Amino acid sequence: MKHYLLSALLFFTVASLSAQDGGGNRRQRRPSLRPRNYLQRPPSDPATADTEGNHVNAHGGCIIAYGDEWLWYGEARPARGFTSEGVGLYVARRSSEQGKSLEQGPQTQHALDSLEWENKGIVLAVVDSAGSPIERGCIIERPKVLWNERTQQFVMIFHSELKGRGYEAAQTGFATSSSPYGPFQFHHAQRPNANIWPADFKKKDVRKAQSLKESDFPKSWTPEWIEAVARGMYLKRDLEAGQMSRDMTLFVDDDGTAWHIYSSEENMTLQAAELTPDYLGYTGRYYRIAAAGQNEAPCILKRDGRYWLICSGCTGWTPNEARMFSAEHIEGPWTQHPSPMRGENAEKTFGGQGTWIWQPSPGKYFFMADVWNPRNLLTSRHLCIPITFDADGTPIVERK
Ligand code: DGJ
Repeated sequence: MKHYLLSALLFFTVASLSAQDGGGNRRQRRPSLRPRNYLQRPPSDPATADTEGNHVNAHGGCIIAYGDEWLWYGEARPARGFTSEGVGLYVARRSSEQGKSLEQGPQTQHALDSLEWENKGIVLAVVDSAGSPIERGCIIERPKVLWNERTQQFVMIFHSELKGRGYEAAQTGFATSSSPYGPFQFHHAQRPNANIWPADFKKKDVRKAQSLKESDFPKSWTPEWIEAVARGMYLKRDLEAGQMSRDMTLFVDDDGTAWHIYSSEENMTLQAAELTPDYLGYTGRYYRIAAAGQNEAPCILKRDGRYWLICSGCTGWTPNEARMFSAEHIEGPWTQHPSPMRGENAEKTFGGQGTWIWQPSPGKYFFMADVWNPRNLLTSRHLCIPITFDADGTPIVERK
């Protein structure tokens, strides 16, 4: 009897954890697949202290330059649970001794820690009004911020999930502010590109996708099911409601076009969607990347005319091996390369999952990643590893 009670207790603990942090990943719904010591182990990487000595609570974030400052936006996470407090901002001086050596000196593994990060607080806060997409209890992940010259606004775009609905809403949230320090005003949340097929879909591709029904493929991960996903089974399912958008990044190309790159189609396929000139919606032009490849956590850089996309696989909060793709055009075609990670634990991305490629000065790139601690997301650690390039221009992310 005692045994039965214990197993039941363990089952319900694991099941409730799994319901909350599933991340919508088809294959990895149950964290019971994770080694238990991963969940119980305190973070082994050092904390990144702000000027008050507290760990920087800005996860899944981005760093952008603004005048003499680096602005680090990221998820403000509570110590318990999986919901959001909003988006936090930390600021460091570029003209400080450390700032200058970061921009002008050699790339080091200590770039983030060398700077003095001042906590500017929450710049997009969750609200108490019932029914708002950012109602307290919602999930706000992977916020990225762009300056829009045309509207003279800072635009924040993030993965937006509704209170009490786990990761099923899979929407994109938009917020704006005339100041980088906020407060950002929530604008709206939506799924991208309702009723629009990808820009490179030909009539025959549309016809094929239209013929695919989930009920015809009851078993996941069979070759037929993978083929159906690749040919657009979920794309077609979500055509009317708009495409799912979860893990994401933003990229402004040399011609000024802004792109939103996000995990879509049940996290099975990435999509790159062109944003409207005000960055507050979609033009309707979008492309699929690595269909049925099950990638998330996209980070992008462009160098010598080539786009490099570094992603992770989909294993919830648990680290996995990074994937890398390159293309001559953001529209594709994309070619897959081996993981760029080198050094101890490279096969698990050093315990982290990418969030942003930070370019503090021309030619200098850092791969930023979160080492998630799902027991206490606030304490998740930050990695910031220099990216170098081999003779062919292929990125290498080596942790020494
Ligand atoms: C992995 C994602 O990259 C994170 O941002 C988060 O959504 C977790 N999945 C949730 O399981």
